[in-house]
Amino acid sequence: MITAASEREAHSGPGSDAEPRAVAIADGVHWVGALDPTLRRFDLILRTANGTTYNAYAVRGEQGVAVIDTVKAEFAAVFFARLEQVARYDEIRVIVLNHLEPDHSGALPELMRRAPQAKLVISKRAPAMLKALLKADDQEIRYDTVDTGDEIDLGGRRLKFLHTPYLHWPDTQCTYLAEQQILFSGDVFGCHHCDPRLFNDRVGDFRFAFDYYYAHIMRPFKTYVLDALRLIEPLPLKLIAPTHGPILRERPRRYVARYRELSGADAALEPVPADAPPHFTLLVFYLSAYGSTARMAEAIAAGAESVPGIRVSLYDLEGGEVEPFVDLIEPADAIALGSPTLNGDAAKPIWDLLSSLAVVNLRGKVGAAFGSYGWSGEAVPMIEDRLRGLKLRVPVAGLRLKLIPTDDELADCHAFGRALAEAVTGSGAQAGPTTRPVIEYANLT
Ligand code: FEO
Repeated sequence: MITAASEREAHSGPGSDAEPRAVAIADGVHWVGALDPTLRRFDLILRTANGTTYNAYAVRGEQGVAVIDTVKAEFAAVFFARLEQVARYDEIRVIVLNHLEPDHSGALPELMRRAPQAKLVISKRAPAMLKALLKADDQEIRYDTVDTGDEIDLGGRRLKFLHTPYLHWPDTQCTYLAEQQILFSGDVFGCHHCDPRLFNDRVGDFRFAFDYYYAHIMRPFKTYVLDALRLIEPLPLKLIAPTHGPILRERPRRYVARYRELSGADAALEPVPADAPPHFTLLVFYLSAYGSTARMAEAIAAGAESVPGIRVSLYDLEGGEVEPFVDLIEPADAIALGSPTLNGDAAKPIWDLLSSLAVVNLRGKVGAAFGSYGWSGEAVPMIEDRLRGLKLRVPVAGLRLKLIPTDDELADCHAFGRALAEAVTGSGAQAGPTTRPVIEYANLT
């Protein structure tokens, strides 16, 4: 039951863990989430200088209450304390889970126990995850799946669903409260930034956190981001209520525009003419201790350039930061990485670059490795293994040679580059391993 007193209290902020308060974000719509200000690393990989929030919401209609998402299990107590300020458990008609990752579903089992009449509402991709999460089968769980265009009428308030898979798991969806033009967006438009002032017009500057979150969570799924934007952009939007970070009520559409910008969608505004020749890109990165791997890189680049329809760029990793190179690799068709072998390993900048590629969708790109070595030469096969692990195709066997390349060996490098380019462009018969003999690994120790 909402009272005037609880509304006043809600407007004063979320309170402390000892005295948590629900916060009204619109008429009959409350934030009932949790603050986690001391978290410094999320999911092991994301740094969180300001901690994070687990945002959950309660929407009241004339015919019941919808709870939209829950919180991480450790924060269940404050979630329930806030929820109880704005609804009785027997009023809860539906529990909408926009995303089943444990930071949003941790309090679900207990909520189901407290509100056993409530129907779970999940995306069409979520049932298998739900069953795994609850360790239960179909007979034991009451749930409905929804898709884009489906809606639930709470009485004077309709929840409409948008299927937005892979943002950030396959199960994810967004929920739109039509009458109040509020988008409950799940991880989309979220960020790890904890500030008890909650709203984007009150909190500190979180632009870095917003872009950082996009780069690590959404960027690998850009095509799905663009699909989601096609559903979201036509909606009238007064407020975006994500599951992490500030609630976006001041100029919410600018965050939608930022997603489009970060997704590089402006290229779509200028389509490539149908009669334009195919254009492929190969990026050759290298490190070189004494110049041998650099000479290999130059010969490989020259060989690749001799194939029509491919543009080759050559970069010395010694001279650049990793992040801009990641931006180059994302739209490229192929990469070749050259490293000497140092203490039985590739050089560290190679690994730095490869580990940074986890945020990029690499599936189907072509990869290759090369390098000069002193006596053991492990770097090349190690790089190839990692490229395969990142889902790149490695159609041309890696090329390595001992110490300073001879003219014949540089000719091999040229042929290697040519074979690589042919594998990328699909030209010639070189879609598989190069036909030029490459240096055999077997004779190396
Ligand atoms: Fe915030 Fe993908 O969970």
